[in-house]
Amino acid sequence: MQPEAIELIPQPLRIEPLDDEPFVLGPRLVVLVGDSPDEVSVGVLAADLLGRLTHRAVEVRGHGGAVRGEDVLVLRVTPDAAVPAHESTPAPDRAATTAQSYRLEAGPGRAQVSAPTTAGLLAGFLTFQQLLRPGPDGYLRARAVQVEDVPRYRWRGLSLDLARSFFPPDEIKVVISLMAHYKLNMLHLHLTDDQAWRLETPSRPRLVDEAAVGAVTGGRGGHLTIADLRDLTSYAWARGVTLVPEIDLPGHVNAALRAYPELNPSGEAPPRHAGLEVGFSRLTAALPATQGFVEDVLNDVARLTAGPYVHLGGDEVLTMEGAEYTELIAAAAKVVQEAGKTVVGWQEVAGVPLAPGAVVQLWDTRPDLQAVREAVESGARLLMSPGARVYLDMKYDASTELGLEWAGHIELRDAYDWEPSALVEGVAADAVIGVEAAVWSETLHDLDSLLRMLLPRLAAVAEVAWTVPEHRSWEGFRARVARQPVFWDRAGFAWHRSPQVDWTL
Ligand code: ACM
Repeated sequence: MQPEAIELIPQPLRIEPLDDEPFVLGPRLVVLVGDSPDEVSVGVLAADLLGRLTHRAVEVRGHGGAVRGEDVLVLRVTPDAAVPAHESTPAPDRAATTAQSYRLEAGPGRAQVSAPTTAGLLAGFLTFQQLLRPGPDGYLRARAVQVEDVPRYRWRGLSLDLARSFFPPDEIKVVISLMAHYKLNMLHLHLTDDQAWRLETPSRPRLVDEAAVGAVTGGRGGHLTIADLRDLTSYAWARGVTLVPEIDLPGHVNAALRAYPELNPSGEAPPRHAGLEVGFSRLTAALPATQGFVEDVLNDVARLTAGPYVHLGGDEVLTMEGAEYTELIAAAAKVVQEAGKTVVGWQEVAGVPLAPGAVVQLWDTRPDLQAVREAVESGARLLMSPGARVYLDMKYDASTELGLEWAGHIELRDAYDWEPSALVEGVAADAVIGVEAAVWSETLHDLDSLLRMLLPRLAAVAEVAWTVPEHRSWEGFRARVARQPVFWDRAGFAWHRSPQVDWTL
């Protein structure tokens, strides 16, 4: 049997169908897990997800708690389970990807996932979940199989624009679940822009009081409270997803300029912006209010978020000379570093000296990328988000109802068929920290519109980020993705019926 016939996305490192009976999720299904709090949390999540699929409560017990005749799913954290990083994984990330590895074995009466960490355990459980199919007796089953798996890249992300149009927490949770299903592990939230400010920021309350209602014309206003952010952080964490907050500076700041007029040279608040133009708004280094504002908001965001990264934007500042831009980005980066976080910025920040380990997010491959090459020479890592491949708000083709077209049309194969380490000439493969899709909300004002742009392309990007090059092929992906609507339809997700796939439904 071809491994493709098992239809996992992303395709694992090694998968071996076994000549044995399947693991059947019968009425006596239990989950066995170790007793550390992190393991219990994976066990509870696994039992909850399986309970939803089987319409029965699934019990979680400690190892050794099984009874004869039960169908047992064992979840085990053990250093022995580590799968060594693949040679295509950048050298600086091999320990991190090994930590996310897992082994899975399923057969009659028993399935086991083992991993060196709970992150790997969760990834392995999610693979197990993808194996489930209804059997002739009505019970779900996983075919007998052995899997050994490790991601290629440590950073497998999605950037979600909350600023042009807001997605409330319940919808962000749907996106997080979808990410987890495809083993994406970094959710970048674009929280601020010209149209609105979307995060309660305690030191600067007028940001949400004045600027959370804004949106593009037809879009939704709203913001995340601190309680919302905490809740999303733990929801995401339980699913192996880390939040990366973005405060976009020193451009894309019209909402902030409205809330705090002293950030404007005129001292007057600009009008609300509900259009699609970019690049016109900016902070001003020479104003006395600017430094305090940057310190306050970045310190708040660093304090309010649990993950190790803060994204400070830096893109598309079209009305500023290089020296002032450098001064503002360097000042912002210093605040982020002093708060103990690692700086992430869009590729425009590459010309500014940053601490080694800073992450530069490449989005536009059209301009000269010499500054990006130089940033890498100075120790920056590159996060690959090429607009023409992974900006999932681009239309699929000319007939796509919603979406933009400035980076071209992106059909499924365009999102799949590219190699992250070959994107920037003259940059070593070891510089690439990972791959991140992005979806901007200028035209996407509800969850269905968002999901229809994400699916099926998010599955393609997830495989680019996870699967090692020798196991990646468009024909293989095309065959496997054809069955994914089983999952999307069950979950009620809108999706695009790409003509490049022979959908089996
Ligand atoms: C961007 O698309 N301006 C990062």
